[in-house]
Amino acid sequence: MKRRYLIGNLKMNLASVAETEQYLVALRKELFGKRIDGVEIVLAPSSVYLERFSRELPDPLRLAAQDVFWEKEGSFTGQVSAPMLRDLHVGSVIVGHGERRLYAHETDTEVGWKMKSALHENLQPILCVGETADERERGEEVSVVSDQVRLAFHDVSPMMAERVLVAYEPRWAIGTDIIPESEQIFEMRIVIHRALAELYGQPVADRVPVLYGGSVKATLLERVCFEPRMDGVLVGRESLYPHELFRMAHEIGNRDDGRREADGNEVGGE
Ligand code: PGA
Repeated sequence: MKRRYLIGNLKMNLASVAETEQYLVALRKELFGKRIDGVEIVLAPSSVYLERFSRELPDPLRLAAQDVFWEKEGSFTGQVSAPMLRDLHVGSVIVGHGERRLYAHETDTEVGWKMKSALHENLQPILCVGETADERERGEEVSVVSDQVRLAFHDVSPMMAERVLVAYEPRWAIGTDIIPESEQIFEMRIVIHRALAELYGQPVADRVPVLYGGSVKATLLERVCFEPRMDGVLVGRESLYPHELFRMAHEIGNRDDGRREADGNEVGGE
């Protein structure tokens, strides 16, 4: 069965070293005696805790950063570069998260630079795309998300493109507990797939996993992941609860719905 992903974005949470320690202890406790199959779990803590996570994150969980800068080094106060992340054994990095686009006014072009700096350092980008409530209101979601995909992948080779995970995160669903309908998610999955197929052709597009993110909870997996045939989820607030995280991992990993065949026909057939 095709691999699925569970990305935990811890955002600016775990407010102290002590809290971070407690979280890591709770993770290990929850993981104890469990087999993690069929799902890759990746956690993205704040950059100040990356080193600690890198030392203490239990196997087989993997580590991601929440952001990266596009230059390798130099006079860029406050930024963290891809080689710095690599040196800490970080494997993936979120780029273009809705909260970065909102609070740091990140543009699609900058997101593209970040993608390339990550890829050149052998980090797996987790590219977030998604329209705002206003854009959806105006019926612009298809063009907004297609453009975000095109600009982020600009100048990215097909071989490198296959290493990217794309997360469809409607901005109006992040942190709001407003949940899109399964059909809306599936529709945007097709939009993302089509934009990738235009850039790279169908076989490459078929190999790029597309996840859903925005107010995900274990009880919503059917609606936001399985029904719209997504390759996993990006979880924000709920990833602060290790018990819930592993509950989701178990459900996702054990779900065998014959997606592989269906994927080729339904999504790839677009
Ligand atoms: P949320 O965050 O699950 O808290 O809505 C999602 C995200 O970080 O993208």
